[in-house]
Amino acid sequence: MARKITRKKANPNTMWGGRYSLGPAEIMEKINASIGFDRKLYAQDIAGSLAHADMLVAQGILTAKDGRAIRQGLAQIKAEIESGKFKFSTKLEDIHFNVEARLTDIIGPAGGRLHTGRSRNDQVALDVRLWTRDTIDRLEAMLRDLQEALIDRAEEYASTIMPGFTHLQTAQPITFGHHLLAYVEMFGRDRSRLRDCRERMNESPLGAAALAGTPHPIDRKHTAKALGFDAPMANSLDAVSDRDYVVEFLAAASLCAVHLSRLAEEIVIWCSAPFRFIALSDAFTTGSSIMPQKRNPDAAELTRGKTGRIMGAFVALCTMLKGLPLTYGKDMQEDKEPLFDAADSIELCVAAMTGMVRDLEANPARMRAVASADYSVATDLADWLVREVGLPFRQAHHATGALVGKAAAKGVDLDKLSLEEMQAVEPSITKDVYKVLTVEASVAARKSYGGTAPSNVARAVKDARKRFLSGQRGT
Ligand code: ARG
Repeated sequence: MARKITRKKANPNTMWGGRYSLGPAEIMEKINASIGFDRKLYAQDIAGSLAHADMLVAQGILTAKDGRAIRQGLAQIKAEIESGKFKFSTKLEDIHFNVEARLTDIIGPAGGRLHTGRSRNDQVALDVRLWTRDTIDRLEAMLRDLQEALIDRAEEYASTIMPGFTHLQTAQPITFGHHLLAYVEMFGRDRSRLRDCRERMNESPLGAAALAGTPHPIDRKHTAKALGFDAPMANSLDAVSDRDYVVEFLAAASLCAVHLSRLAEEIVIWCSAPFRFIALSDAFTTGSSIMPQKRNPDAAELTRGKTGRIMGAFVALCTMLKGLPLTYGKDMQEDKEPLFDAADSIELCVAAMTGMVRDLEANPARMRAVASADYSVATDLADWLVREVGLPFRQAHHATGALVGKAAAKGVDLDKLSLEEMQAVEPSITKDVYKVLTVEASVAARKSYGGTAPSNVARAVKDARKRFLSGQRGT
């Protein structure tokens, strides 16, 4: 049986239907339309059109009168969209056609002159670039707020002792403040990656037209400057066909999401009953419908969970681009949904993590108890043997291992072994050794640059405020 294609009778697309006698099949209209998601670009689309129209007037390509009408029309459209009155149409495919068609409705033929010297190909490249740039600025400012929350809490917990882990096994005592500051550094690098990406992407594709440039005497420097770009892009083919700035943004966002996810994972672990290192308040936990005692850290779990879709967006963009011959291909319309979703997700995650960092309450007694267990000061004993007795580190490590074995066999901590018991393993040990066998002494001694000593953390807090928080928001 022949398959029947549902075809519109005789109304070709009003924006490009000159050589068409029939309208598109319903399914064609459906797969082609991006207005359902690219309406998000309306403000950037209108800003780009305003800059383009001003330039066309300045170049004598449009009359001042047309320029004024276009400006008024675009302002009205913006107001209609923002008040929810604008009627978006799938037939008009995307945000660019929707705005242009409405402009012609409002101001007549002058609306049709706006598209002189440009194409939807440079237009969409511009809109996505402006949108990504705005998103980077917002995200960077949000990451700064997260850093501020972490630094404030690090100051509060500068000398709170907790176990430091490797392999998730107790390794050495550290301070909670030091642990929180580790994330401040990570988010600082995430911010700098976003700034790098912003700097590289800040060139204007507008005026590249469909792919080859335009015969109209446009001034690309004029529009570039008006839209806050450093320069127009040098090659028209590159301008309409690359989305590397989206890929770069998504790469930076993915890495940032990975950092957020590691912190989220730690929050999940720390709040679990076997750990009890921290508690989140009612504001950041949910209950269980069946187990009345439960307080679940859902926001941390969701931050960990959303990382997958942010990384997925990065992979989607790379895959979409990798086989595309120059220049534009409609495949590129597929850049938007992953980009928008990843941006929404990461903003939500950063805000939720900032909330949780401000909300969490540490349990120093519990942290200290766990930090003191499991021979966490064994390295301090070995270091003491090196420093005070002059043993080679390898030999000191060996002797300490034997002492840990002895203590473990008795079921006691290292400082509960008598001096005689210690000397039986390493005769040069004196009673002074007991001074280094507390978690307080252990952290206080780690004053090497970047180390965990409370005095270091107090300094690092000040330093981090200067390095990350002193500039303008978002700089
Ligand atoms: N909606 C399109 C996109 O998102 C706009 C550009 C369309 N250009 C074209 N020649 N069909 O990519």
